[in-house]
Amino acid sequence: MSTVVAEQLKQHAQTDFLPLMGTDYVEFYVGNAKQAAHYYVTAFGFQPLAYAGPETGMKDRVSYAVRQNKLTFVLTTPLRSDNEIADHVYKHGDGVKCLALKVEDASKAWQETTTRGAQSYMEPVVLKDSQGELVMSGIHTYGEVVHLFIERKNYNGVFMPGYRVWNNPYFKTEETGLLYVDHCVGNVGWNQMNRWVQFYEEVMGFRNILSFDDKDISTEYSALMSKVMSNGNGYVKFPINEPAEGKKKSQVEEFLEFYNGEGVQHVAMATNDIVATVTALRNRGVEFLRVPTTYYDDLLERVGTIDEDLEPLKELGILVDRDEEGYLLQLFSKPVQDRPTLFFEIIQRKGAKSFGKGNFKALFEAIEREQEARGNL
Ligand code: FE2
Repeated sequence: MSTVVAEQLKQHAQTDFLPLMGTDYVEFYVGNAKQAAHYYVTAFGFQPLAYAGPETGMKDRVSYAVRQNKLTFVLTTPLRSDNEIADHVYKHGDGVKCLALKVEDASKAWQETTTRGAQSYMEPVVLKDSQGELVMSGIHTYGEVVHLFIERKNYNGVFMPGYRVWNNPYFKTEETGLLYVDHCVGNVGWNQMNRWVQFYEEVMGFRNILSFDDKDISTEYSALMSKVMSNGNGYVKFPINEPAEGKKKSQVEEFLEFYNGEGVQHVAMATNDIVATVTALRNRGVEFLRVPTTYYDDLLERVGTIDEDLEPLKELGILVDRDEEGYLLQLFSKPVQDRPTLFFEIIQRKGAKSFGKGNFKALFEAIEREQEARGNL
């Protein structure tokens, strides 16, 4: 890191009113948490971690937490119909409810953000069990998504109070090399992108680090605009997409229609060896978008020399892009539920801090072929 950048980070750290230590967990509201947890374990290589339900005092829901390295996913389902989780699943299908962020002080995080205009989701609460105490608070963001602030410095348990260890020796899989959340993308409505950019700037102290307009991100048919928001230390990045006018329906519009509102479009998970990770995921049945093999014909002319052999990248359909600082390899899954909504990105960064702008055209053409097959283009 250059001394200038290091100095800027230090200055920002001193003035950052919402210091974040990264993503704590991502919680999904789903129609069947038992089966969803099974999918993340068997298909993605997460390990069973913790369980909460009626047996642990949670009367209205069941939650399974699964973990792989620094990635923790929670799959939650309602046990009854008269319940906000049930309403969420009815309205949106399976999707992300909480992007939980790790903080030093969850009470201060709530105070700082709500005084700057955030709508409270949960006032700070102290959750206790024999392993210590965990403080949690939360605010609303776009759609029905919420940010929870998690303070776990005085907690030693496996996940959080209310959960018990979920350890089934017969239910274990090899991990697939997924490491941590690289970024989480939100899809918002027409002309709403700048409103949420302003929210992340004013309420959470984020900065807009990259912007893409409809000329960057359009194919012959569909278009979108995107701005990438980052917190001070860069551990948390939230790109925000809105649909743009094209000849036909934008992929963001298709999402908004089937999700029945704004929500999380994709979660990008980092790996240090994308060829090994994607090989493992594919062998376990994870489905990925395919670009035409012609994408690889002039790849090295576009991105220059890379460390990886071209053949496995072509075989697996992995995309490559370069920016001033290095390059990145990435691949996108198909939606992970029947609605064409949430999907995952697998990303390996080799210096690049950007998001694969050079792949947008090939990628969006691949998405459009899928949209067309669904009759939604
Ligand atoms: Fe992404």
